Amino acid sequence: MIQRIFIFDTTLRDGEQTPGVNLNKLEKLEIAKQLDRLGVDVIEAGFPVASNGDFEAVKLIAQNVKRPIIAGLARAVKGDIDRAWEALKYAEKPRIHTFIATSDLHMKHKLNMSPDEVLNRAAEMVRYAKSLCNDIEFSPEDGTRTNPEFLYKVLEAVIDAGATVVNIPDTVGYTVPNEFGAFIRGIRENVPNIDKAVISVHCHNDLGLAVANSIAAIENGASQVECAVNGLGERAGNAALEEVVMALRTRRDLYKIENDITTEQIHKTSELVRQLTGIQIQPNKAIVGANAFAHESGIHQHGVLNCRETYEIMTPESIGLKKSMVVLGKHSGTHAFEQRLKELGYNNLSAEKVAEAFQKFKELADRKKEIHDEDIESLIRQEIVHEKEVFQLESFHISSGNNLSATATVRIRKGEEIIEEAAVGEGPINAAFKAIDRAVNIPVNLKDYFLKSITGGTDALGEVSVKVENNEKVYTGRGISIDIIEASAKAYLSAINRMVNDSETFSIK
Ligand code: KIV
Ligand code: ZN
Repeated sequence: MIQRIFIFDTTLRDGEQTPGVNLNKLEKLEIAKQLDRLGVDVIEAGFPVASNGDFEAVKLIAQNVKRPIIAGLARAVKGDIDRAWEALKYAEKPRIHTFIATSDLHMKHKLNMSPDEVLNRAAEMVRYAKSLCNDIEFSPEDGTRTNPEFLYKVLEAVIDAGATVVNIPDTVGYTVPNEFGAFIRGIRENVPNIDKAVISVHCHNDLGLAVANSIAAIENGASQVECAVNGLGERAGNAALEEVVMALRTRRDLYKIENDITTEQIHKTSELVRQLTGIQIQPNKAIVGANAFAHESGIHQHGVLNCRETYEIMTPESIGLKKSMVVLGKHSGTHAFEQRLKELGYNNLSAEKVAEAFQKFKELADRKKEIHDEDIESLIRQEIVHEKEVFQLESFHISSGNNLSATATVRIRKGEEIIEEAAVGEGPINAAFKAIDRAVNIPVNLKDYFLKSITGGTDALGEVSVKVENNEKVYTGRGISIDIIEASAKAYLSAINRMVNDSETFSIK
């Protein structure tokens, strides 16, 4: 039978408790909208009593994001619950999430309350929350270090009081998969009214086991998993949403579990969270790390180029990435190198030239740790095909605005000669390309234009790749600059230079 799992995202609550993260309400709304596109079932939007900013953010999300359930956190205290409801009442599907610690350690040293007092308070506050809102989640904080018999009593009491979801937190990331699985099974078998509530889990990653523990819980009857994008959260963070979802998807053969996540939105969501929180992702992080789909060793590269499944258990496209990356370095083999030459537009090199280029590439790779496409291009241009930079960009001037046509003036050097041309276009890049067309005076058909930012922030470096066509041959060009018009002009001229260097097509006077 197919089991349905609910994905509860706490990026905006526990994730925001990551040291150094402070999102404003508009940033939170942007992330919430993306979580909606990703397809999560529940967005925990914040902890309204914690600050006015958190209150306003939960309210804004409740007012604007209508498909998922919007949850707000509250201690098992009347004032917290009232404040949470104040913000949540605008939501189409509101949920109050209330919690109190139940482990001996927390009850004694933090709450200074007896077990009976905690039990009564939990039930009383769930009942109170239920008088305001139909959907109530209850969490016994430090659940995995709580005496199981006491926990069963607390859970039974809160379900009787109206809790629709009971969430078992491994607050300090202490448990291990087998143990946690058995713990959840114990709850299922010993809480008499458990069939009236959804069992949820909330695992922290202090021992690097948050995802494994969440999956062990699912195997034992949990049907809601709390997680955060990029694994953000207190200390070592929460179970990473992307890892839980992709583990279940990739091993569907084993788990037969469905959820509503559109996995193709994972990369975009991860990037947005990275940019807005400023918390960078380690390159070897599963699913969303920069190296998660990158292959370095020659043996792996050869395998992947012949048949992806040899070294890829999921496709980069399944998380919304364009394709896997074959990273060229000293371990790479000829297959990968030749493939990259083709991707860079060097389709016509003879076998001897490719062999010579590969030899030079290996020498370079021994000296340089990372080899970028630009390194390969300059190696080929300077040492193999001896390409000339026939046209060089000397300077340009652009004038554009929202109410006027864009005009561009370019100065191009061709040997000793300086050619100056101007053109009007639909936008500054189009105007610049038209001005360059006039200056080089060669028919150029632009086939493709792609702009990406290669560093973050408003001073990001832009990388432009273009493809131009002539006589049914395609030439690629690349340009990098902090100014995207300059990057575009450089990329366009570099493709034109490659075209005019192709002696089969052109003879330059
Ligand atoms: O880790 C934890 O115990 C929590 C609860 C508030 C659910 O974040
Ligand atoms: Zn937590």
